[in-house]
Amino acid sequence: MNPELEFSPERMRQMGYLVVDRLVDHLATLPGQRVGTKGDPTELLEKLREPVPEQGMEFEAVLDQLERDVLANTMHVNHPRFFAYVPGPGNFVSVMADAIISGYNVFAGTWLSGSGATTVELTVLEWLREMCGFPAGAGGLFVTGGTVANLTALAAAREVKLAGGMDGATVYYSDQAHSSLEKALRVIGVAAENQRKLPSDTGFRLPVGELARWIEEDRAAGKHPFCVIASAGTTNTGAIDPLRELSSLCRDQGLWLHVDGAYGAAAAATDRGRSLLKGLELADSLSLDPHKWLFQPYEIGCVLVRDRSHLRDTFRILPEFLKDTQQHSGEFNFTDHGIQLTRNFRALKLWMSIKVFGWAAFRTAIERGFILAEFTEACLRGMPGWEIVTPAQMGVVCFRYAGASGEDHMRLVQTMLEDGFGLITSTVLRGQTVLRTCTINPRTTEGDIRGTLDRLDGFARRLVDR
Ligand SMILES: Cc1ncc(COP(=O)(O)O)c(C=O)c1O
Repeated sequence: MNPELEFSPERMRQMGYLVVDRLVDHLATLPGQRVGTKGDPTELLEKLREPVPEQGMEFEAVLDQLERDVLANTMHVNHPRFFAYVPGPGNFVSVMADAIISGYNVFAGTWLSGSGATTVELTVLEWLREMCGFPAGAGGLFVTGGTVANLTALAAAREVKLAGGMDGATVYYSDQAHSSLEKALRVIGVAAENQRKLPSDTGFRLPVGELARWIEEDRAAGKHPFCVIASAGTTNTGAIDPLRELSSLCRDQGLWLHVDGAYGAAAAATDRGRSLLKGLELADSLSLDPHKWLFQPYEIGCVLVRDRSHLRDTFRILPEFLKDTQQHSGEFNFTDHGIQLTRNFRALKLWMSIKVFGWAAFRTAIERGFILAEFTEACLRGMPGWEIVTPAQMGVVCFRYAGASGEDHMRLVQTMLEDGFGLITSTVLRGQTVLRTCTINPRTTEGDIRGTLDRLDGFARRLVDR
């Protein structure tokens, strides 16, 4: 028994080296491995469900079981042939940073407990603020991911625009907005009948004229429009809503503009991204996810608000047991700016990885996402039988095999899952099931793309051209 839950320094080193060796083996051999494995629910439960173990066992034995039964039954989202959803390429510096985050267990909620960590977080937020073109005075915080970033921003929008209550409070967004936004609207209490999901235009963007008409009609009907949600890179097609037009409409109408850039906003680091994302800097709030196109391991999302005092107005509560944390002006308490009190030092991984690789390397890595999507599109255009549904846009391409039904496309995904070489998943655009790739992993090669498409082509021919 080890009731101190402690080990000697020698044993800790041994355990740490074991973990690092396994991690390095895994990462160094990833391109030769399956893209991952989806386990069978009955088999997995049989292997893993057990009564709480009363006695401990050797670390090595637990690691072995972890590798054999758990990690072997996951998709490797950092695999160079994982093109599904939004890949999570990660990077090794941030993996090490995650170990430091847990090892030091810094409490990054208050200045008193985590002044150094708070300063790092403020510094990295300044980098992101500048990247997005937000003015001085804007600020935000790191959260678990895009979902919580969206929730945090919409809670601030509600606080600022609806001090009078939720009655008739109405929000506008397109049918391409991410589902996390609807979840957030549910949480902040916007009634389902006041969530205006407008059909997107032919480019899968929020139609500004239509939006203006809806706002006018809603006002005439006695509702209280308070917020428009735009996407800076939709999950489905990479579409970017007309941010400048939306911003000027919102300004005229006194509405809050929230931009969900969880997927796409990181592209603002590059010249072409900045030009595609013009108007991003005009948002009242913005979500962006470093655990997507800024190559961080989960979980790190970010919310920026044009006037950071709005976050404080929304979230600050000072209980008696935290009064010691608020004795000195100039000290910054992140807990006053978001939902969490206890929060870890997630900014560290972004800070360390940017410092080690340099911003130029990040810019080039992001740019590669655009280039690989264009390569994917070019390959598909040269493959008989395949049609491009939406061209390369912000690292995303949607396509289909002519003559294949929606079910056939979904069957192709299941075949790829079983095959394990690479993974592309499906989505639905205007009622049609299509395949979709997202190519933001900078370690993906052209060979990975060609190889995956060739294999997919073989599967499609076998399935459809029987
Ligand atoms: C556009 C967009 N918004 C929000 C989210 C939700 O982010 P998370 O999954 O990090 O909570 C995603 C996730 O893919 C996304 O693509």
